[in-house]
Amino acid sequence: MKVKKAIIPAAGLGTRFLPITKAVPKPMLPIVDKPNIQYIAEELKKAGIDEIIIVVSPDSEVITRHFGERAELEKRLLSDGKQKLYEIAKETRSFNVKFVVQNEPNGLAGAILCAEKYIGNDPFALLLGDEMIYNEPNEQSCVERLIDVFDKTGKSVIATMEVFGDDVSKYGNIGIESEEDGIIKVNAIVEKPSVSEALSNNAIIGRYVLAGGIMAKLKALKPRNNEIYLTDVLDELAEKGELLASAFSGIRYDVGDKLGFLKANVEYALLNEELGEEFKKYIKEISKKL
Ligand code: UTP
Repeated sequence: MKVKKAIIPAAGLGTRFLPITKAVPKPMLPIVDKPNIQYIAEELKKAGIDEIIIVVSPDSEVITRHFGERAELEKRLLSDGKQKLYEIAKETRSFNVKFVVQNEPNGLAGAILCAEKYIGNDPFALLLGDEMIYNEPNEQSCVERLIDVFDKTGKSVIATMEVFGDDVSKYGNIGIESEEDGIIKVNAIVEKPSVSEALSNNAIIGRYVLAGGIMAKLKALKPRNNEIYLTDVLDELAEKGELLASAFSGIRYDVGDKLGFLKANVEYALLNEELGEEFKKYIKEISKKL
């Protein structure tokens, strides 16, 4: 079965980014002039995903407004002859998005389950709302790579990147059974291990394609600390030899972290058609003082 749907969980508290996240959900923070969640929606559209389910918190109407219509603004831009700005404003409502509310921020697995009525038993892509991946225009994106592996194997597949030293403790970590043509067969998962507990140098990042039936598996889980964990389902799949992982091309930014957010903004500003040259001059100038 083809992957046609995706979930973007965007209902977290975003405590690492207080105070801005008191009123603005983290996935709405801008990378130059566009919220991170729109870059993710663009990655999905390019990969041929035709239905995006965004999980929002009860007070996140700013996300729904972003993907909705603002008729007065569009009318004004058109009547002022500002065609390019009109296209930019219109673009944000070109995605096929549905919203579901997560009333309690009870974790990632809870957020995924909120989308059950739209996913049913189908396979789906899962892209965390606070990570972004830069790809060259002609490069295969991370989610395209995962869909490709799923199409070939029918198995759930997670994106992985290499990490070293103390960084292994910041991410979920995978045990590697075997690797062929860039597809890793995963035999175990450990959550944020100490350096000595790590099974490999491969960290799990926020891009997944999950095979049909995941919702039922999530619902069958026993809560730990009053929460259910996606990792527990991934671990179950790994034990049965039903979990794969794949590296991706491109540069990943953890934009839910202040430093990652700043790096993404600097690099995207340097690439920006309008600002890039001026900004480069500024960076060169300021770096002399560092
Ligand atoms: P994080 O682990 O970054 O959590 O969530 P968070 O609450 O957003 O942020 P911090 O750690 O407090 O700063 C990863 C992704 O999962 C979503 C978040 O919105 C983010 O996109 N998420 C997390 C939910 O949708 N619901 C949750 O209950 C938790």
